[in-house]
Amino acid sequence: MSTAAAEQIPGRAEGDGIAARARGLTKAYGSGETAVLALDSVDVDIARGRFTAVMGPSGSGKSTLMHCLAGLDTVSAGQVWLGDTEITGLKDRELTRLRRDRIGFMFQSFNLIPTLNAAENITLPMDIAGQKPDQKWLDQVIDTLGLRERLKHRPAQLSGGQQQRVACARALASRPELIFADEPTGNLDSRAGLEVLGFLREAVDELGQTVVMVTHDPGAAAHSDLVLFLADGRIVDEMERPSAEAVLERMKRFDTARVTFDGGREASGGAGPEGAGGSTAGAGTDGTAPPVGGPAHDGSGGTAPEHAPGDATPDKD
Ligand SMILES: Nc1ncnc2c1ncn2[C@@H]1O[C@H](COP(=O)(O)OP(=O)(O)OP(=O)(O)O)[C@@H](O)[C@H]1O
Ligand SMILES: [Mg+2]
Repeated sequence: MSTAAAEQIPGRAEGDGIAARARGLTKAYGSGETAVLALDSVDVDIARGRFTAVMGPSGSGKSTLMHCLAGLDTVSAGQVWLGDTEITGLKDRELTRLRRDRIGFMFQSFNLIPTLNAAENITLPMDIAGQKPDQKWLDQVIDTLGLRERLKHRPAQLSGGQQQRVACARALASRPELIFADEPTGNLDSRAGLEVLGFLREAVDELGQTVVMVTHDPGAAAHSDLVLFLADGRIVDEMERPSAEAVLERMKRFDTARVTFDGGREASGGAGPEGAGGSTAGAGTDGTAPPVGGPAHDGSGGTAPEHAPGDATPDKD
């Protein structure tokens, strides 16, 4: 794929407000009998300055989609653009630089460096890249996230919610075009989770960020502007201005579909085996527990990609 394909973005107009775009995005793992089609020709536009949530059953391809959009994983077929830049086809070094300069990451495990304090963790990716943070922006991020009084604390001296807020600040520090968050509240109690979701929401509303968040929690998805639903590697539905109840109702239909598919039991809902179709309006419900399932792979690191998450003693220069 040519790196000069920016002009060929389908339907693209100047300043069309698309932060990331995929066309025919296909990702297969393995080969032969053990091959898994994690993404099956996905077309998606991630709108700039919006908060997009990605939901779907465990194994439906959520993390894979995020990793492919973020250039953390190669694609088997199709094209991905970050803004005007087609990232499929970029050389490793260009991709590393693009991720470093234009994308922020938040993962379920915070991937903070235990030997560094909060302030040092926040600026670590920029330090590694030899970039000077914009102090005004950094102050705004730190104050928005309520971290001012905690900057000298090391991760072990912070609560889980505070650690995740540090991870959030780290993702925001370089003012990336796009923030990808894979279950950022998965390890937090509900209060700390709400804090982080509130801050992501503020980052979009007040700081103009673009956020893509994978979550299993309908309550978390309700903080977004748009929910994309994945099933079997395809986007099968979407929901604007979601409520937790409506999202939960939609997710229940995946469960019903799975019972029908796996066990041959009769489905009470109308969804087919792929859970495809259906309206985006949701009925009210009592709100039971969200579908379960952990991330299949979160090991891509929350700092600069060339910096492994387990790396406890980074060279700050
Ligand atoms: N490195 C890999 N090698 C082989 N198969 C993989 C790999 N990573 C993911 N898969 C498979 O691809 C499919 C999609 O995985 P993915 O991690 O994207 O799912 P997910 O929707 O994020 O699930 P979860 O909600 O459990 O985190 C799954 O069937 C998974 O087993
Ligand atoms: Mg996952």
